Amino acid sequence: MMTADAAPIPLVDCTPSEGARAVAAEIAALVRARRAAGRGVVLGLATGRTPLGIYAELARLHREEGLDFANVTTFNLDEYLGLRADHPQSYRRYMRERVWRPLGMSLEQGWIPAGEIAPSQVDAHCREYERAIAEAGGIDLQLLGIGRNGHIGFNEPGSPRDSRTRRVELDALTREDAARDFGSLEAVPRHAITVGVATILSARRIRVLAFGESKREVLERTLSRPVGPEVPATFLRGHPDVRLFTDLASAHGKAAR
Ligand code: F6R
Repeated sequence: MMTADAAPIPLVDCTPSEGARAVAAEIAALVRARRAAGRGVVLGLATGRTPLGIYAELARLHREEGLDFANVTTFNLDEYLGLRADHPQSYRRYMRERVWRPLGMSLEQGWIPAGEIAPSQVDAHCREYERAIAEAGGIDLQLLGIGRNGHIGFNEPGSPRDSRTRRVELDALTREDAARDFGSLEAVPRHAITVGVATILSARRIRVLAFGESKREVLERTLSRPVGPEVPATFLRGHPDVRLFTDLASAHGKAAR
């Protein structure tokens, strides 16, 4: 039995557009194969800048090649707490505008934690989210970006391996990185709901993307630091079907194409 520390993450050395096309092609193949078998697909999706190229390519495949997402259910990683659903920075709005609508999906096919939920309802909502993922059959393919502090979803440094969907306090660096989009640091919410590390690791396939100099240091830490909560992305080492698409691979001499 392989230990988590022993298993490196296979790297795919690629440009952002090559990575987007490769991951979109993998998703398209999965959707088509399941459709042919009369079955559904469950995707775990991320927001942020990193997956935008994948979503644009999937939208192109839908428009130009008739790729049909009717058999797809999506579950998002996270949502800010305290934002209206139509707030320009809410992840629900991102999903409506960048994913569900362009892919021709109905809103019932897409799940995302509720950012407007009352504080007293948050725990029940998080349990319900986990139950919905399980009832859908679990996540077939999880897309991930990595935050500069090593977060996956909003599992900030300190998040344990066995964590599940829950309310979290956002890390200072996460809020700082979001301030550009929100217009100021004060406008960035202090809390969010995120699926847990264990929820992410339960996905059957995980495809991570990290591009550009701003991710070099965290990529280095993800690949070389001891596996543990200090850098939550290190928990991906040891997953049986994880791949990391990056243009920083040559720096680590571990590129696989
Ligand atoms: C987004 C999410 C985050 C981002 C990460 C990288 O739903 O869960 O973990 O994937 O912060 O963000 P970008 O892609 O904007 O660099």
